[in-house]
Amino acid sequence: VSGHALVVVRTDEHWAALHRLRRAVLFAPGRRVRDIVYDDAHPDDRDPANTPFLLVHDGRPIGTTRLDRLAPTLGAVRLVAIDGSEQRRGHGRALGALIDAEARRSGMTRLVVNSAPDAVGYYRRLGWSEHVWDAAELVGLASDCVQMHKLV
Ligand SMILES: CC(C)(COP(=O)(O)OP(=O)(O)OC[C@H]1O[C@@H](n2cnc3c(N)ncnc32)[C@H](O)[C@@H]1OP(=O)(O)O)[C@@H](O)C(=O)NCCC(=O)NCCS
Repeated sequence: VSGHALVVVRTDEHWAALHRLRRAVLFAPGRRVRDIVYDDAHPDDRDPANTPFLLVHDGRPIGTTRLDRLAPTLGAVRLVAIDGSEQRRGHGRALGALIDAEARRSGMTRLVVNSAPDAVGYYRRLGWSEHVWDAAELVGLASDCVQMHKLV
């Protein structure tokens, strides 16, 4: 996946890019659950078990995700977003390959996700399959999500 890098979010500039991407792609008015207001100071983003990333392509942040360690060998991929004008051009596939590698490097053997209904096809193409891993997570923003998992 030449030209792509997964960068851990640390600087103010990186945080601003992450919030911009999430707001535009995942929390745009009317896109999903209407009554959820994006909180750019959410404690989950600063939890030491969770690692927020930017996908950088040719020096530009064009995507984001977060990898949460749920257990020593289990990770959750959350808040996956590719910039609107950059979707369907292979960047999501690159992000998937990089996050799998990142998970393996940190000792994870399985990843789980709450997929938006219209992203299930994307995850399937990348080797994920439908599997209920924690029904208690299917509330709020995730109430219409499809749970999936992948061995990495
Ligand atoms: C879903 C998303 C991350 C995919 O990223 P992308 O850059 O558009 O995906 P790619 O172009 O790399 O596509 C990878 C593969 O998945 C397929 N694909 C991509 N989006 C898809 C979708 N919504 N439904 C079905 N298949 C999809 C592509 O056809 C491609 O298949 P191929 O490489 O085997 O031909 C991106 O479109 C996005 O941010 N969507 C809006 C937010 C969202 O739904 N995020 C997921 C929340 S769980």
